[in-house]
Amino acid sequence: MIRILTDMKISLVLLSCIFIFLSQCKEPQSTKEIERGFIADSAMVVSARVEASQIGVSILENGGNAFDAMIATDLALVVAYPFSGNIGGGGFTVFRTSDGMTGTLDYREKAPLAAHRDMYLDGNGDIIPEKSTLGAMAIGVPGTVAGLFEIHRKFGSKPFAELIQPAIDLAKRGVVVSEKQAKTINNYRKYFERANHRTIMLDKEWKAGDTIKYLPLARTFERIRDNGREEFYEGETADMLVDYVQKLGGIITKEDLKKYEAVWRKPIKADYKGYTLISMPPPSSGGICVAQILKSIEPYDFGQFEHNGADYIQLLSEAERRVYADRSYFLGDPDFNIIPIDTLLSSYYNTERMKDFSLEKATLSSEIAHGEIEIVESDETTHYSIVDSYGNAVAVTCTLNGAYGSKVFVEEGGFFLNNEMDDLSAKPGTPNMFGLTGAEVNSIAPEKRMLSSMAPTIVAKNHKLFMVLGSPGGPTIITSVLQNILNVIEFDMGMQESVAASRFHHQWLPDQIQFEKSFDTIHFGHLRKKGYQLNQGASRILGKVDAILVMPDGRLEGGADPRGDDTALGF
Ligand code: GLY
Repeated sequence: MIRILTDMKISLVLLSCIFIFLSQCKEPQSTKEIERGFIADSAMVVSARVEASQIGVSILENGGNAFDAMIATDLALVVAYPFSGNIGGGGFTVFRTSDGMTGTLDYREKAPLAAHRDMYLDGNGDIIPEKSTLGAMAIGVPGTVAGLFEIHRKFGSKPFAELIQPAIDLAKRGVVVSEKQAKTINNYRKYFERANHRTIMLDKEWKAGDTIKYLPLARTFERIRDNGREEFYEGETADMLVDYVQKLGGIITKEDLKKYEAVWRKPIKADYKGYTLISMPPPSSGGICVAQILKSIEPYDFGQFEHNGADYIQLLSEAERRVYADRSYFLGDPDFNIIPIDTLLSSYYNTERMKDFSLEKATLSSEIAHGEIEIVESDETTHYSIVDSYGNAVAVTCTLNGAYGSKVFVEEGGFFLNNEMDDLSAKPGTPNMFGLTGAEVNSIAPEKRMLSSMAPTIVAKNHKLFMVLGSPGGPTIITSVLQNILNVIEFDMGMQESVAASRFHHQWLPDQIQFEKSFDTIHFGHLRKKGYQLNQGASRILGKVDAILVMPDGRLEGGADPRGDDTALGF
């Protein structure tokens, strides 16, 4: 395929350059009154729970920087949002400092040393149901604690003990269960006993207004406060984790924990009409995919599109279809694979991919590539965004993968463990038209990091901070982040208006456009006539975006997604 690119006609390149040049200097188009959400003068935290946002903001008020607030917010989410806030999982951080330095930290889980390619297949080569999702075999080696300590080592300005203390206090004081939280815990209760072979502390009927205290977790945090990073990877907590997982038949060893390291990686950067996207590189597909879709649609004049109108839905869906097809074939752990990042991000390549797109009819996904792999990822992750009054920004997305991860709960330590092994390909597919085998790059191997869709993202404009955002939602993270960037840049929305707007999603396979339940059906007949398969309501919501926008006067506007209990706070 690379050879095909080098053979492309010069005229196509010139044409796309002219298009891109003409659309480069995008400025807000309309004079419409922008609806605004919560506004703060200089510092803000937007997260999935009010307790976590409060704790993050209190660190900022006491002079801490965005990285200090990140550590405190993250640990508060472990207590207030155990659905996906975690120390038993992993995550990614994208940052931009006040002087414009950018970077990313990868603390994604890794496959254990004893993992092997066929570990989820039976004697016939078929996938064993639930083995990679529920219980001890689903667990990857957790990275969160290593990530938080690495952030602290490089950027922290306050002692770690001070940053973890609010989470310890919160765990002891307890968290009031919200209506949404009661519903989720009660929905997943049936799995807790299956994964743990016994009942766990969360396993009772909860109702809104109840308070849950997390005393074993408070003790784990106290040991981490006193003994540092080693407590989780080599200390008493490591012993608890390994003993419990092995008792349940899992394969994680002390050697796995001891070897775990977080990795600093170069961010994905892409220009879009004068804005610079800064996002997460592999092992996440998030940054590359958002950038590729932006590059694919950059030549189009958005003046002609109505927000969530038929042509707009078509353009995005067609770009997404092509980009997700690439995702399956090219993306995986960069420590195990060579990934053609520069080519995938070039305007040249993405313009070529879109050349058979027409507003007249749907392209079939079978015409885009012959892979047989559907992207099946869990959508229970969490994202938070932070800006401090010094001008530093962090975007953090972290996950246990599924809701409460593998549902394995280290009772003595008070925390859930992830089921991130399910993000590796349990059964790689057959070769595609490019001669590449679908998902081969993401096949299981010891110490491999699994491909993710998480896309913590920062957008800069004229070398200044413009937006910080991200979302949970498995593959819909990418399209949720994308639509929020476009809502603000192309449709002049405020941040809160943007995160609340209805969303849609195409991921190549299955060949359908998914719509949120709230999405206006007015254009559905028109899209069906053009050959699109539409699916409304299979997922009630798509993504849950928490974002911060720097307004023209320098103040900050929060976008806290009303799909959850998400809250923006600041000063
Ligand atoms: N486990 C969800 C993701 O990493 O994208």
